[in-house]
Amino acid sequence: MSNTTVSSIRKFPLYVYVYAVFLVGVAFLVYIISNYGNISLLGVALFGLLVFASDNLSSPLPKTGSVSVNFGITLASLIIYGPATAAVVTIISIFNIKAFIKKVPYYKHLFNSGQYLISIGLCSIVFERLFVRGNVNFLNAANIGTILLCSFIFFFLNTTLTTGAISLSESIGFLNIWVFNFAWLIPFHVFLTLMAIAISFLFGAYGYFTLVFTSLPLIIAQYTYKLRIKERKALLNSILQIVKIMEAKDVYTAGHSIRVAEYSEEIARELKLNEYDIEIIKNLANLHDIGKIQVDLSVLNKPGYLNEDDWIEVKKHPEVGYEIVREITFLQDDATAILHHHEKIDGSGYPSGIKGDKIPLFAKILCIADSYDAMTTDRPYTRALTEEEAILELKENAGTHFDPEVAGAMIKILTGKQK
Ligand SMILES: [Fe+2]
Repeated sequence: MSNTTVSSIRKFPLYVYVYAVFLVGVAFLVYIISNYGNISLLGVALFGLLVFASDNLSSPLPKTGSVSVNFGITLASLIIYGPATAAVVTIISIFNIKAFIKKVPYYKHLFNSGQYLISIGLCSIVFERLFVRGNVNFLNAANIGTILLCSFIFFFLNTTLTTGAISLSESIGFLNIWVFNFAWLIPFHVFLTLMAIAISFLFGAYGYFTLVFTSLPLIIAQYTYKLRIKERKALLNSILQIVKIMEAKDVYTAGHSIRVAEYSEEIARELKLNEYDIEIIKNLANLHDIGKIQVDLSVLNKPGYLNEDDWIEVKKHPEVGYEIVREITFLQDDATAILHHHEKIDGSGYPSGIKGDKIPLFAKILCIADSYDAMTTDRPYTRALTEEEAILELKENAGTHFDPEVAGAMIKILTGKQK
């Protein structure tokens, strides 16, 4: 289901891990070919072609790797023809033209091949031990149970081995990567398993032409999904361009949002949020001041203190930003963080004046990241504070302006860097 994109192989344990996975994968392949030798050429041709198409149209996963429907197709070839044919189909699925064109390093190929051979290999061996082949209709409770068990074995091995590689490569917690990259794939995996059962049943009952109605739509659906992910990236990029243009006009805040995004990510990691939330908070941070697009430029660039009218103008930006960001589908659930990024714990902030735990966690994080950056850069009416002074400011205002726990996380990050 997934092909890992391991970003570096600098670390020795990762190097050992990749080779070990590859060698165990090859051992599985040799075992299956020598023990279940009857390979169906028709099966290899039909299902090989399908997995080849599927893999070359796969979609990138949020963090690393990619997702494709080829597990469903490979599982169907296992049910219809047995482990040896499925093993050859797996080898075909390993050849990914895109990866060769993009000159993906050899170790990624080694790892991807190894982890896929292990996952399909163990899944196939268990399948062959338990599955009872008989008449055309193989659908009985025991056989369905076997297919579900094998599907679980595949998913478990595939995601665990891949998570291990990312964890070693990027030094991010194992569970964090798993939750962010794979937990959301469980319903999709169940769907692929059910599709594999349908594909093999129709194939057995009505012949190979049924693949046109079962596997092809899967590949097309996958391609559509890939386009959707591309669209989402394009949308984010254009919004970030708008932020850049906006900040370029406001002489005092050039690069502010990017820095707020970096601080927010560090705070979120310190607070042990999962990778999915970290990705959301980074996007929100990049967009937190997008509402300033409606604030008068003469106010934003005003040298000296703002008068009451100016403040009324500036204080509109969280609501305007919220209205913009809640139109972005994947950010709408957390867009309130933008609405409330100027609230204070004691209720003296704006626009709503909510206090304490009424303020969403993401808003509290944005608030501290935003305030820290504002404190440590020169502004029209204040000079930049030093890091030590800013830390003191965070400490003094924890519990009144800032959430004590989030402020504590930021202070820990900053003091950690000083050591
Ligand atoms: Fe703001």
